[in-house]
Amino acid sequence: MTRPIVIAVDGPAASGKGTLSRRLATQYGLRHLDTGLSYRAVAQALLASGQPLDDEALAVEAAGAVDFTVFDPSVLSAHAVGEAASRVSVFPPVRRILVDKQRAFAMDPPGAVLDGRDIGTVVCPDADVKLYVTASPAVRAGRRHREILRLGGQADYAAILADIERRDARDMGRADSPLRPADDAHLLDTSQMSIEAAFLAACAIIDEALAARN
Ligand code: DC
Repeated sequence: MTRPIVIAVDGPAASGKGTLSRRLATQYGLRHLDTGLSYRAVAQALLASGQPLDDEALAVEAAGAVDFTVFDPSVLSAHAVGEAASRVSVFPPVRRILVDKQRAFAMDPPGAVLDGRDIGTVVCPDADVKLYVTASPAVRAGRRHREILRLGGQADYAAILADIERRDARDMGRADSPLRPADDAHLLDTSQMSIEAAFLAACAIIDEALAARN
């Protein structure tokens, strides 16, 4: 049986890695997992039951109950849930539980595109292709700002930028599995690139890697 194809996509908040990963999964006939949703599900479980976010034992219990098949992105994508997810994701035992589930998802044939912060470095260090998608904090804040306005919401650019910078600092600065490009990751800086251009650049990298594997 052929080994599952695994594509790892890492990058900071609002880098566009989620949109890119979904398109790549469709393009290559693979399943897709947004691993951020698994940390968000832990955070949401604690928020919904009024529990503190800094209690490791409670977060571990919530992580054990996380089921990837019942994620509700409409609840989990809320801004406050993302912020809370960044906080619970610093607990090593929470990460171990979720990483085991993420690996099992990745290895199920025909394979998957996983996006997150530590896919290329920790979850799937043997991935066939590793992409690190980034853009400057100002560009990422601008994209998120326009997206909220487009959906009819209200948003303050300065507050979004401050938030992105705080999230970057926490995700890159934590002791366990900090956000960083794997040594063998391909860097895709989309600051000056459209989504379409980023997609085409990613496809070129993946096509080359898959040709070498066959
Ligand atoms: O990608 P996101 O905004 O949905 O992620 C929410 C938080 O979850 C993020 O700030 C850090 C954490 N996270 C993580 O630690 N490791 C991952 N693989 C994915 C997300």
